[in-house]
Order: sequence, then C-alpha cells, then structure tokens
Amino acid sequence: MSKLLRRKAIVTGDAQPAEHRLARTLSWPHLVALGVGAIVGTGILTLIGVGADRAGPAVLISFAIAGAICACAALCYAEMATMIPASGSAYTYSYSVLGEVFAWVVGWSLILEYSLVVATVAVGWSGYAVAFLHGLGIVLPDALTHGPAVAGSLMDGTFHLTASGVNLPAILIIAVVAGLLMLGTKESATVNTALVVLKIVTLALFVAVALPHFDPANLKPFAPLGYGSTPGADGVKYGVMGAAAIIFFAFYGFDAISTAAEEAKNPERDLAIGIVGSMVACTAIYMIVAAAAVGALHYTAFANSPEPLALILRGIGQPTVSTIVAAAAAIALPTVLLAFLYGQTRIFMVMARDGFLPTNLARVSKRGTPATITAVTATFVAFIAAVTPLDLIASLANAGTLCAFIAVAACVLIMRRRDPNRRRPFRTPAVWIVAPAAILGCLYLFTSLQAVTQKSFFVWNAIGLLIYLGYGLARSKASAPVTT
Ligand code: ALA
Repeated sequence: MSKLLRRKAIVTGDAQPAEHRLARTLSWPHLVALGVGAIVGTGILTLIGVGADRAGPAVLISFAIAGAICACAALCYAEMATMIPASGSAYTYSYSVLGEVFAWVVGWSLILEYSLVVATVAVGWSGYAVAFLHGLGIVLPDALTHGPAVAGSLMDGTFHLTASGVNLPAILIIAVVAGLLMLGTKESATVNTALVVLKIVTLALFVAVALPHFDPANLKPFAPLGYGSTPGADGVKYGVMGAAAIIFFAFYGFDAISTAAEEAKNPERDLAIGIVGSMVACTAIYMIVAAAAVGALHYTAFANSPEPLALILRGIGQPTVSTIVAAAAAIALPTVLLAFLYGQTRIFMVMARDGFLPTNLARVSKRGTPATITAVTATFVAFIAAVTPLDLIASLANAGTLCAFIAVAACVLIMRRRDPNRRRPFRTPAVWIVAPAAILGCLYLFTSLQAVTQKSFFVWNAIGLLIYLGYGLARSKASAPVTT
C-alpha cells in the first residue's frame, strides 16, 4: 500500500539530466496563444449546433455553466503550475500530492483527453479538407477519407462494423504538426500564434456580421428541454446541464499550458498569465459568439449541423462571408492539434522519466525537443484517428479531462492544508469556494455525460490499473516516500 501511495519529490525541469532537459524558449504571449489555440476549436465551431439541439437557446446558459466550472479549474491549475513548475500537468501534481496510483489514474485519463482530442480534431479537419479538395475537383476515394463506421453499442453486444476505411488526411495533418513540433518549440509557438490571430479574426468577423441580425424572437422558447439533464430515448442527455456536459469540450485546453512549465522562460509568472488569461479571453469570446449565433437564426435551423456558424451566415444571406469563415476556420483548426499533441508528448515524456515508459523515449534532441516521444505519440494518435470509429469515443475525452480537473482541484486543497507556507507565486482566490466548486461542478458534468461514456471511462481505467499493477508498479523509479 505504501508503494501505491508513495509521492514523488517536487523536482523542476532544470534539475533533470541534460539529455532529459527541455529548452526554455517560451514567454507569456506564446503561452496565452498556446492556450487560446488549444481552447478555440471544434467546440465553438461545431458543438454550438449540438448544444442547441440539446438545450435550445438556453445553450447560452450551458456555455456560462461550463465556462464557470472551467474558470474555477483554471485558477486551481494556475496555483499548481506555478507552485510545481515541472512538466506533466495534472499527472505530475497528482504524483507529488496524492500518490503514485492516483498519478497513474490521472495520467491514464489524460491520454483520453489529449490523444482523443488530437484524433477527434484531426478527423474533423479531414472533413473540411476533403470538402475543400472536392470543390477543386479532386475527389479522394471514400475508403481513404473515413475511418471505420460502427453501429450499436459495445455494452449490450450489438456493436458491429458498417464500413471500413482509413482516414488518410487525418494521418497527414498529424504528421505535419508532429514534424513542426520536432523542428522546435519556439518555431511551433510562432506558427501557432499566427494561426490563433486568424482564428480570432474569423470569429470576430462572424460576430460582426451575425450580431446586427439579433432578433429576440429567436430566443423563444428559451429552454424547451428544461434546465437539467434528462436522457432521451436515444440515450443522449437533453436539457441545459446535458448540453453543458458536451459544451465543456469547447472550454478545455488551457491545461495544455501547464505542460509547458519546463519550457517557459519565467514559469512562475507566465504560467499564471497564460492559464488565466487564455481562459478569460476565450470565455468572453464564446459568450459573444454563442449570443450572436442563437440570436441571428432560430436554433432549430442549425441544431446538430456539422458547420453551424457557416450555416447561420448563409441563413442570414451572407454566403461569401460563410465561405470565408469556413475556410479560415479549417486553416486555423490545426492549432488545437498542435497544443494537444504538444501536451501529450510532454506528459508521456515525464511518465518515461518516471519509469512508466521506456526511459530512452524521454531523450531530448539537439533542437531541445523530445523528438522520439513526439514521433511515437504522433504515430499512436494517427492510428486512433485513422482507424478508430470516433463517434464511439470522442466524448470520452470529456470524461478524462473532468477526472484531471477534479484531481488538480483536490491537490490545491490538500497542499493548502499540508504545506500552507510553501511558496505560491499564484494563489487561487477564495480557494475554499473555488476548488470545491471545480470539484462539484466537474462531478456533476460527469454525471451528465451519457451512460455509455461513463461506463467506457471506468473500463478504460480498470484496464489502466491492471497495467499499473502488472507493469508500472515494478518499473516505477519513485524513491522512498516523501513527506512534504
Ligand atoms: N477546446 C478544444 C476544442 O474545442 C478541445 O476543440
């Protein structure tokens, strides 16, 4: 038992041996851009349609609730990231505060967050790219543009394959982003910043064109499916909270900044600015975009559309702006891939340093990047994107993220009690309200996920625990238990 609960001493990146030490190249504007690049993506571009289907115009409240819960979590991340400025994010904090077995569960859950977001967004991007090529007269065979499709459910044994194939564009975009990350972290951050500016300009254009069409009549009925989370005949949970559980996807990504702790030039100041700054900026952007969307067109016209913003613009008679927004969104979307692939490589790198993956994978190249682990991670997520039926697993990313957020908020509270005098460059304000609010909010969102997602999450972690007991426990490099 003491082995399961042993805690890792707090060691920052500068104390690592040279071959495992990352280069410090990022300043706070890079970190804010990394956060905004990670946060603004498929969520606001497509989930607003799914959310409107589940909550009606009251999806605005779903946005506010998901945003408030993420803001509480972001404040907790800012405290932990600046107190323990080491790579690995929630995995590292859990290892230092909660103990090894919790760190493993959180690290295992983070694979759901980071890898599944990369796979989901790569497949979403592939859809845009294929449509764009089609417009140019280049038609790719179906079997090369879609992964397998499935019907039925794993849980009741009705699961079966309805089409096979490999998503080639998804593999290619992951390879390009991985190549950029291997080239250099600073170079990646610069490309990311340019694309983030494009993304923000695109959303500003949408708001500028849609907002003048705001008609209060479009907000009626405001909450046709209620304010709670009620399962429909299809197993999907409807109502404001049911929608919030899926809209949550749109808000996370700020946590990817905490994985950059060992590459930030001034982590104690810049991580807090990056995490809180990107979260505040994105919440403001989302509320304005969501209000402009539901006010411009009745929600029934764009509910469940795969491209709701473009559809709304066409619906209000702006087809040219619609095409511009769709194209710019597709060009800028890879920032989400970049930030989440970056985050996953840093988490795997720390797990390799800790002995949970082959240590050689943690080696840093001459360019200061963990090139080997980046190539291995990219291959892993490209495989998921290429051949996994994503409909089945995409919402699992939310479950994994919720688990990590709960762990980080718990770490903040435990450290306040265990080590109240430790230096905290950023202190979560009203911590005894904010951290419990993050924990309870995330728990509630977890209960609002579909039953199949919840069960799959527990199955994933049960498999993870078996691997830990059979493999990780013996290979762990943790030293004797630490007491601070
Ligand atoms: N927040 C990210 C997105 O919406 C995951 O794509």
